[in-house]
Amino acid sequence: MEFPSKSVTLLLLFSMFFHSAISANFTELFQSFWAPDHLAIEGDNIKLSLDIVSGCGFESRRKYLFGRASAKIKLVEDDSAGTVTAFYMSSEGPSHDELDFEFLGNVSGEPYLVQTNIYINGTGNREQRHSLWFDPTLDFHSYSFFWNRQIIMFLIDGVPIRFFTNKEENFVPYPKNQAMKILGSVWNADDWATQGGQVKTNWSHSPFVATFKSLEINACEILLPENDESVAKMCGELGKFWWNKPSLNKLSKHKSHQLKWVRAKYLVYDYCKDRARFTELPRECAN
Ligand SMILES: *[C@@H]1O[C@H](CO)[C@@H](O)[C@H](O)[C@H]1NC(C)=O
Ligand SMILES: *[C@@H]1O[C@H](CO)[C@@H](O)[C@H](O)[C@H]1NC(C)=O
Ligand SMILES: *[C@@H]1O[C@H](CO)[C@@H](O)[C@H](O)[C@H]1NC(C)=O
Ligand SMILES: *[C@@H]1O[C@H](CO)[C@@H](O)[C@H](O)[C@H]1NC(C)=O
Repeated sequence: MEFPSKSVTLLLLFSMFFHSAISANFTELFQSFWAPDHLAIEGDNIKLSLDIVSGCGFESRRKYLFGRASAKIKLVEDDSAGTVTAFYMSSEGPSHDELDFEFLGNVSGEPYLVQTNIYINGTGNREQRHSLWFDPTLDFHSYSFFWNRQIIMFLIDGVPIRFFTNKEENFVPYPKNQAMKILGSVWNADDWATQGGQVKTNWSHSPFVATFKSLEINACEILLPENDESVAKMCGELGKFWWNKPSLNKLSKHKSHQLKWVRAKYLVYDYCKDRARFTELPRECAN
């Protein structure tokens, strides 16, 4: 009689702790974490409302390490000044990792800005801001994160707007050990969001409603209740996962052209260029 090979046994064991999850069913994947009465599921649409009483938010039931998460979002129409709609990934605790899309509202007719940020081990301060090549309140557009041990990419309708590479060899920290939940929310941020906080939320225009749909997660799902580093690492090391393909560790020629185009035309703020803010630019800003 043959015994199962060690690797098969290991694989079986590991699959109890994590697997590659592909799903697009909202209630299977997500739950409310803030003000469930402000979150409405209407067919395929998940409507998040903000009024003077509260904003609201949803989070994934599970945590993920590496892969892709995406959502189609239609942002608050007309007057959205003071509001922020967010689609983000975050681990827990003071030393958390986090990847953010934050959509900063504006008065009617003035453009939204998209702020992205990356927190590593509890520290953010890595903001970029972009304007958009379309009006994000008229239609759904797709916003996604791609993340593996080597790169993080923020994409809009498949176009990369931000690319962050692992530079641990230069002592730049990189988020690779903490599994993250995937979250969405809308809240009042009129102390900073719109025109530097000068324009306040006009509550007579509430509720402010952002609509999410087609939330998809194709990522390494951690089935353990707690982060377990040794198991978590497998998400990045086993050859069987698509996000670890070496060809994904750099931009294709086409994507790198797209990123250049976005940076040239739509980048309005980059922390890596902010010498007034940082006496010494963060290490990852060096080429
Ligand atoms: C989503 O999952 C829930 C719970 O498993 C199920 O009841 C529901 O029918 C599913 N919805 C769709 C659209 O597949
Ligand atoms: C993360 O931050 C904590 C303090 O919050 C620090 O003790 C730890 O060394 C840091 N870890 C890394 C890998 O930088
Ligand atoms: C809002 O509109 C003003 C005027 O066009 C613009 O300066 C600003 O960048 C826009 N976005 C935000 C979030 O303030
Ligand atoms: C708030 O909106 C109302 C209704 O459109 C308008 O009459 C009022 O002037 C606005 N308030 C401010 C401070 O802009």
